[in-house]
Amino acid sequence: MQVHVFENAQQVGQAAATLFAAQILRKPNSVLGLATGSSPIGCYQKLIEWHQAGILDFSQCVSYNLDEYCGLPVEHECSYHAFMQDQLFHAINMKETHVPDGNAKDLNAECKRYDAAIQAAGGIDMQLLGIGRNGHIGFNEPASQLTYGTQIVNLTESTIQANRRFFESEADVPRQAISLGIGGIMNAKEIVLIAMGEDKAEAIRDTVYGDINPMVPASILRTHPHVTILVDQAAGKLL
Ligand code: F6R
Repeated sequence: MQVHVFENAQQVGQAAATLFAAQILRKPNSVLGLATGSSPIGCYQKLIEWHQAGILDFSQCVSYNLDEYCGLPVEHECSYHAFMQDQLFHAINMKETHVPDGNAKDLNAECKRYDAAIQAAGGIDMQLLGIGRNGHIGFNEPASQLTYGTQIVNLTESTIQANRRFFESEADVPRQAISLGIGGIMNAKEIVLIAMGEDKAEAIRDTVYGDINPMVPASILRTHPHVTILVDQAAGKLL
């Protein structure tokens, strides 16, 4: 596991974008694993900038997002479909983009379909991750057991509170999401985890130094051979 502490959040985003750019230049038909939330925004801005400058071509790349809320219409401004469209997809030329369908009639079938689609695409070459204050990755919340495949998860109170800032009221925050499991994340060939801000410092410390334990889902990443963690000084202050 490589850990880099940068002075500020902007540098974290640029460093993450650099790793993704190198991946795409090395393998133009890469399968990219993408995330939502505040953390990846700076990375996505750089990827857009480099695409517009003619440096990065996504026309052979396909992407699979980590997760989506259940029961939120895709056109809702807080859906992860809408987020990805606004923050990245509208401005680049990705060949195919995929986000799990949190409104599928049969959510269990959707979970199976999503895993099979990733597998059929050859697996994820590089996965971008944020981290929750409680150490979650994707929406894999602290639990007594590890999850494997894509599944429906109940969001914890801590995650509902953290995501409340995007919604009008707490009651509007969905309580369930569909998320790649820890096993699905661990199947990625390379993983880049980014974190900014002091409220991530404990989760980053526990991920890097704590016990490998499903109560801190990100700690499982220590058993993956190719993980890079990029944090700003605030998120890295307990390292
Ligand atoms: C988002 C996701 C979540 C976020 C995490 C951090 O697709 O899977 O695990 O990465 O909740 O969110 P931010 O970046 O908003 O602090």
